[in-house]
Amino acid sequence: MAISTKIAGIGHYVPEHEVTNNDLTKYMDTSDEWIRERTGIQSRRYAKKHENTTTTLGAEAAKIAIERAGIKKEDVDFIIFATLSPDYYFPGCGVLLQRELGITNTEVGALDIRNQCSGFIYGLSVADQFIKTGMYKNILLVGAEMHSMGLDFSTEGRGVTVIFGDGAGAVILQPTEKENQGILTTHLHSDGTHAEELAFINPGSHGGYHGDREKYGFPSEDKPGGIYMTQTMLDNDLIYPNMNGQLVFKNAVKKFPEVIMEALNKTGYSTTDLAMLIPHQANLRIAGFVQKLLKLRDDQVYNNIHKYGNTTAASIPIALSEAWEKKLIKEGDLVCLAAFGSGFTWGSALLHW
Ligand code: ACO
Repeated sequence: MAISTKIAGIGHYVPEHEVTNNDLTKYMDTSDEWIRERTGIQSRRYAKKHENTTTTLGAEAAKIAIERAGIKKEDVDFIIFATLSPDYYFPGCGVLLQRELGITNTEVGALDIRNQCSGFIYGLSVADQFIKTGMYKNILLVGAEMHSMGLDFSTEGRGVTVIFGDGAGAVILQPTEKENQGILTTHLHSDGTHAEELAFINPGSHGGYHGDREKYGFPSEDKPGGIYMTQTMLDNDLIYPNMNGQLVFKNAVKKFPEVIMEALNKTGYSTTDLAMLIPHQANLRIAGFVQKLLKLRDDQVYNNIHKYGNTTAASIPIALSEAWEKKLIKEGDLVCLAAFGSGFTWGSALLHW
């Protein structure tokens, strides 16, 4: 009997503090109407600055996933942590999560994934390979973000800031020999051509991006880059993410359907067989476009971006966990997960729940 990888436990955690679109109007020139119309977002959650970190959010989700999988934290044999908003520049959140959970076993490996919006899918694919080869039996995969610590709350940053929220999701992955259970296929893609069009480049070793410098806000006479934060970066506000929203939109609405169909075609299924599509919660307009193009019914697609905003690496596990809690996904269901984001990187996973 062939071994495949099943999601044995799932959980999510979002901070209590809700920030509505109207709350954001206190800091920047924006409106509830603009944000709702362009993104579908009504509110998002922000973690508490002095109590939480990306790791502690991830740990809350992980504890739930571990409990629901019916295992103990000591049973976890590998940790994968996907985030773009880590606690530290280095080391990554994987080892911090190990410490936070009190996992003292040093046989456990910890891997950090830096693939932004598609980080969870990349993590799932890596975990799937480790499980199928028999190397690990209880992989903890976490996607978590604490965006609220790194956004520009002035009007200048409004195009990016209104979109993102904090949260975490986690799964425990185990081998299964059961028919109609587990991951059927995963598909990963990348195209670095537009790497800086959705990016947070400082601090970094680039020494000042050498391409279209002014476009990204660099003073042309200066080289503001560096592995460590410099005064020039701070003085020039070069410490926030930037996004070419229209380019992202154009690429996302093309790549999402392509990568979903790639998974379905590989396994001989069609869109009508899908019980649930969980798209990365980038923007409700993107998800709506994909749904329409693939002719999916409302009950075949799960969205929760209106409540949480875009939580990047956390968005898929949060949505999957919520859909499962609401009993919208049941054993044997065909579920597709798909993401597109910074890099650009994109990917999909098709599984039987
Ligand atoms: N509130 C009010 N006005 C705003 C805001 C805001 N929050 N943000 C931008 N504006 C203004 C701009 O300044 C601009 O004003 P101007 O015409 O006077 O210059 C105007 O609104 C239009 O700006 P655009 O950037 O052209 O707005 P657009 O219609 O493209 O919408 C958006 C922006 C929502 C980002 C859109 O491009 C989009 O949906 N892109 C997809 C990107 C995305 O979803 N990213 C998610 C993260 S990446 C990922 O997860 C895949």
